Amino acid sequence: MTNHSAYIAGLGFYVPDRVLTNRELEKMVETSDEWIRTRTGISERRIAEKGVGTSELASRAALAALKQAGVSPNDVDLIIAATTTPDMPLPSCACFIQQKIGAKNAAAFDLAAACAGFVYALVTAEQFIRAGVYKNILVIGADVISPYIDWTERSTCILFGDGAGAALLKPASGKSGILSSVLGSDGQYADLLTIPCGGSRRPATHGSVAENGHTLKMSGSEVFKLAVRGMSEAVIEALSRAKVKKSDVACFIPHQANQRIIDAVADRLELPAEKIFVNLQKYGNTSAASCAIALCEAVEQGKIKKGDKVVLATFGSGLVWGALVMEW
Ligand code: ACO
Repeated sequence: MTNHSAYIAGLGFYVPDRVLTNRELEKMVETSDEWIRTRTGISERRIAEKGVGTSELASRAALAALKQAGVSPNDVDLIIAATTTPDMPLPSCACFIQQKIGAKNAAAFDLAAACAGFVYALVTAEQFIRAGVYKNILVIGADVISPYIDWTERSTCILFGDGAGAALLKPASGKSGILSSVLGSDGQYADLLTIPCGGSRRPATHGSVAENGHTLKMSGSEVFKLAVRGMSEAVIEALSRAKVKKSDVACFIPHQANQRIIDAVADRLELPAEKIFVNLQKYGNTSAASCAIALCEAVEQGKIKKGDKVVLATFGSGLVWGALVMEW
């Protein structure tokens, strides 16, 4: 047992070029740019071209993270792909990413924790590093969720976008890296946010397609309330485990689902707006990629500097949630 914590040595993200604006959605469903912006904070999102799978976006993000870390694909020990929209049911998205980036010496698996996937995957990777099993772990949060959206259903189609974010984790020396984490789930709420068909219980049939069973169904207001509670409690617990005061946090990166959820969490935690990083206006909710892309942009924009305490908090279908505290 080496008991080294893990730190992020490189970050990268990728979003498709195609921008879908609120104005375009006005032509597709009965909604308005004003409604979407005031109820969610979202102005536009990115949509992958037809036939482009999650591994394509994920590979681009992964190569950017490897480049920033100065690590060759050959030296990656493990790829964890957090996604609920793999290219195919079999094989894993992680194996397609491995194929695309040429990380031929890595083990690879997918991790399904919906929007909480990136934080779940970081925490999973950290365990392998603490145990001394691996030294270079590629953690990717990526989803191409647009094919699962019902583009005639106004309460869900406005929310989501496609994207990928990646981090290369290495053993930390000294105090930096992941200081604490909290993961949680409550399966009693499993039915609140689902894609009901296409799995083993209800595989694809003419009937499942006819009844529109392959698109995302969500009880929005219940999810909203549980998201606020789940994320707030996870952050409080993670800060307490790390013995870090709220006032010492330099940058808080919440799951980018809805500005009102973020505001409610910030209220509960009494966090000032200037410490909260938000980019959902540009990308919407990119599911497992959300926190990863936000972390990447926060660093690029100089919001996070060496030695800063950073908190990631996320929440998703399951219901699942997670928070972690890092020293950058
Ligand atoms: N445009 C105009 N009106 C709309 C739209 C729209 N796009 N969508 C819903 N409405 C209407 C509803 O039909 C309803 O009308 P009614 O009062 O006549 O019935 C009214 O607006 C209010 O609807 P609510 O659902 O109460 O609206 P709310 O303020 O709760 O906002 C929203 C809805 C945005 C979905 C919100 O509940 C939300 O963000 N929930 C959380 C969703 C989320 O983050 N999910 C992701 C979780 S992570 C994962 O793992 C995927």
